[in-house]
Amino acid sequence: MSKLWGGRFEGQTDALVEQLGESVSYDARLAPWDIRGSIAHARMLGDRGIIKKGDAQKIIRGLKAIAKDIEHGKLKWDTALEDVHTNIEVALVKKIGDAGKRLHTGRSRNDQIATDVRLWLRDQVDTILEELVVLQTALVDFAEAHIDVILPGFTHMQHAQPVLFAHHILAYFEMFKRDRERFHQLRDRVNILPLGSAAMAGTPYPIDRKQVAKELGFAGISANSMDAVSDRDYQIEFCAAASMVMMHLSRMSEELILWSSPGFNFVEIGDAFTTGSSIMPQKKNPDVAELVRGKVGRVYGDLSAILTMVKGLPLTYNRDLQEDKEALFDASDTVQLCLAVFANMIPSITVNADSMAAATRQGFMEATDMADYLVTQGMPFREAHGVIGRIVLHCTREGLTLPELDLDLLQGYSPLFKHDIFKVLTPQAIVGRRNNPGGTAPARVKQALKQARKSL
Ligand code: ARG
Repeated sequence: MSKLWGGRFEGQTDALVEQLGESVSYDARLAPWDIRGSIAHARMLGDRGIIKKGDAQKIIRGLKAIAKDIEHGKLKWDTALEDVHTNIEVALVKKIGDAGKRLHTGRSRNDQIATDVRLWLRDQVDTILEELVVLQTALVDFAEAHIDVILPGFTHMQHAQPVLFAHHILAYFEMFKRDRERFHQLRDRVNILPLGSAAMAGTPYPIDRKQVAKELGFAGISANSMDAVSDRDYQIEFCAAASMVMMHLSRMSEELILWSSPGFNFVEIGDAFTTGSSIMPQKKNPDVAELVRGKVGRVYGDLSAILTMVKGLPLTYNRDLQEDKEALFDASDTVQLCLAVFANMIPSITVNADSMAAATRQGFMEATDMADYLVTQGMPFREAHGVIGRIVLHCTREGLTLPELDLDLLQGYSPLFKHDIFKVLTPQAIVGRRNNPGGTAPARVKQALKQARKSL
């Protein structure tokens, strides 16, 4: 096959090298962003008199026509032309003739790909930010709709203390809030124009980088041409933020899977988000939650792939850097799909408040509050802890729960127990007492819900 950029070669490219080196099979999706970048570059070249204004106009018209061709599936991508850039440039020359050969003046594919990816990634970040808000809204709605429901809170997967279901759900709201902050912050670092760095040292043509930045909506231009063509840290940041989102989704998935198992029976996930078994007719499996949990590994892998790819690279551009794209695309696609599915799944979930209430009666979750009661009667907490521990041991031996004990027995452990002890042991009373900022008392959770809504 004929050689690309082959002036200085006498031989042909090996067929396997073409297979190894082509990127158009996956970077063709960058075409709309590549074309936007090229249009801004061509306009600037014309405005600055680096190429003729008429040629610039021809190039811009040609690129717009190619964008339409691509939209209608009319451009035949050719792996012999390596990448999205060369495919489009060759199509342009075919369409408008010699003027098309002037487009690549003062730029290189090195600053071009860096520009394309930043433009594309900025749009992905914006989509993810919107999706995070949609998911957060679903969580607030879900929490609000079950504001009276109490369930056991766990530590070490052991019954710890009763909490409002809404408080539990709002914990995830907070995680996704921090995820949004991360994407907002990294968006600023993505939104910098590398074009004008050319191959790596800059270009002698009297270009106007600020004009190009303005047309493409970049907030600024890169300060160092060598950094601009070779850094990929903004992609690593993106994959790290995406990994964090996936990790949060996965934790919530894990809980939904547990909660929907018969042992818990706390929730039922809607039919649209569960699947049947090919052999066991009774099954309703939480496959969506499991798939989201499973997909975390891919995104961690994408992060690891790009981190590792960059670590040994000398300045500036090295072809290794082409290997960033499949990982980056995969991380972005995966997190977007999982966020969308999750936001749709949340409203499909039915909450089984009775099972949760029944579970709060197990596991001696009143124990901390019983100790606190003795503290209010003047006993030091450490001592109270020991007293209640012995009472719990008694209960486990006799098969009793704490609220089932009678006052005489309690007074045998401590004379400080009075009649009012039983009032403090209901789940409602226990939850209601945790009324400091960040606590699970209904008044606090209602405040938190208001705050959450406001932040959306
Ligand atoms: N396809 C290449 C990439 O993704 C574009 C830049 C190629 N530059 C080069 N000098 N071969 O990195």
